[in-house]
Amino acid sequence: MIVLETCSANETEELGEKLSALLTKESVVAFIGDLATGKTTMIRGICRGLEIQQQVESPTYTLVNEYDGDIPIYHIDCYREDRIEEWIELGINDYFYGDGITLVEWADTIEELIPDTAIRIRMNHRIDRNNCRGIHIQAPPEIERQLEQRIKIS
Ligand SMILES: Nc1ncnc2c1ncn2[C@@H]1O[C@H](COP(=O)(O)OP(=O)(O)OP(=O)(O)O)[C@@H](O)[C@H]1O
Ligand SMILES: [Mg+2]
Repeated sequence: MIVLETCSANETEELGEKLSALLTKESVVAFIGDLATGKTTMIRGICRGLEIQQQVESPTYTLVNEYDGDIPIYHIDCYREDRIEEWIELGINDYFYGDGITLVEWADTIEELIPDTAIRIRMNHRIDRNNCRGIHIQAPPEIERQLEQRIKIS
């Protein structure tokens, strides 16, 4: 597990950008954290790294946003829809096990559907330090190793 702290939205975006280089069409990134801990912000960084031109916002009218990159990106948010059955019916497994990078906010609400191989990112507020966030990243060993490398050299 990688444990770190960011103290600005920009720093969180940069972390997302570093992670983006390690993602493949099999990747699922599960974000877990309270309101405003920076889940969407980090996803923006991932999308910036993957040169997405579209605006990156949490899906509101639809349940899944699709962004066109070299690899398609699916942005899912389980805040408003937290019923497992609904997600299964919507075909969430096609996103998880198909070709594309799937990024899930509020992933803990559908934990039982998240693939074992997913990268899990837990984000939390730091008490009394408004712009700081604690971030825990759990990923397959090779990804953790490469990400640690990228964090170190910058
Ligand atoms: N270190 C930080 N990392 C990320 N965001 C930060 C940080 N410091 C301050 N912020 C601010 O916190 C807010 C985070 O919002 P964001 O929408 O990314 O959170 P979220 O976890 O996706 O929220 P939601 O639960 O509503 O989906 C933004 O206004 C951002 O500018
Ligand atoms: Mg969000």
